[in-house]
Amino acid sequence: RGADLRARNTFGVGARAPLLVEVAALPALGDALAGLPAGAPLLLGGGSNLLFAGDPEAAVLAIRAADVTVLEEDGAQARVRAEAGADWHAFVRRTLELGLCGLENLALIPGTVGAAPIQNIGAYGVEVGEFVDVVEAFEPATGRLHRLSAAQCAFAYRDSLFKREAGRFIVAAVEFRLPRAAAPRIDYAGVREALAADGIDAPTPRQVFDAICALRRRKLPDPAVIGNAGSFFKNPVVPAQQALALADAHPGLAVFPGGDADSRKLSAAWLIDACGWKGHRDGDAGVSAQHALVLVNHGAATGAQLLALARAIAGSVGARFGVALEPEPRIVGASW
Ligand code: EPU
Repeated sequence: RGADLRARNTFGVGARAPLLVEVAALPALGDALAGLPAGAPLLLGGGSNLLFAGDPEAAVLAIRAADVTVLEEDGAQARVRAEAGADWHAFVRRTLELGLCGLENLALIPGTVGAAPIQNIGAYGVEVGEFVDVVEAFEPATGRLHRLSAAQCAFAYRDSLFKREAGRFIVAAVEFRLPRAAAPRIDYAGVREALAADGIDAPTPRQVFDAICALRRRKLPDPAVIGNAGSFFKNPVVPAQQALALADAHPGLAVFPGGDADSRKLSAAWLIDACGWKGHRDGDAGVSAQHALVLVNHGAATGAQLLALARAIAGSVGARFGVALEPEPRIVGASW
């Protein structure tokens, strides 16, 4: 009965949905929604940022529409529209082929274009929100298709309007504003060094893209090989004073700007590593031996087992450092 979701989540855990509906073309979205049972459906993109800790109660909706169109361009920049179902990494590569820049640091992030604005995907010093012009979002409650500006999307660290008001909107397409002139961003730890090791000090966007791909392949486990959803926890943002005290007591702790003068972002990976979790296994639920922030499914772990492991990790970090970790992926079928 229902639809098997194991191949539709990058953790590769078993789950069943009462109903799965795929939308091949955006104009069919309204009708598809009208045909679903009452209540907000669960939107599924690449399944790379969620954990099925249990079966979803709602119907699952997947948008397959994946067209990419250049809307307008001039010598300096272009506006490019991508439908929600487009593969993120392929889209980033396509923009570079079109001679457009900005998204190269976001290479190799698993998932779809439609999922990108929801948690404001970010890596190596760049967040997607910086390049979003408009998000086309369908509001099931009113049947309206909104054009939300980047400001209306309220992007923040791994956060947006879409995440805060979960269920209100369905992202149908995203319009990006991308410059033609390269403005390489290589300050994030390890990026400049990786390029320099190849003798490159003024990289082209394509060279940054290649370097980021190589870094990610080295540092992060490939979900096609071992089930995972990238970082399982957000890097916690704490008051500056607390960060200072922790950094004093633990000289290795990586501390980043927190978005405003009174806060700092701590490395969750460091905190988890310091509690001895890296490479830990409870049966098939484990912590990557490559990166302490990534939970992995060694084969037959259930979502509930992975959630139990995540809670144990957060519990030990809380007890030892007084810092609360919050999951980054969406948890379905249970609450944190
Ligand atoms: N570290 C450890 N142990 C580890 C790994 C890292 O102590 O096993 C420490 C090191 O001090 C390192 C620091 O953590 O310098 C930061 O590590 P890394 O550069 O790998 O970045 P991160 O903060 O762990 C974030 C994002 C990643 C993104 C990278 C690169 C979050 C929650 N995660 O990880 O995003 O790829 O930066 O920009 O913000 C994701 O969201 O799924 C994701 C993979």
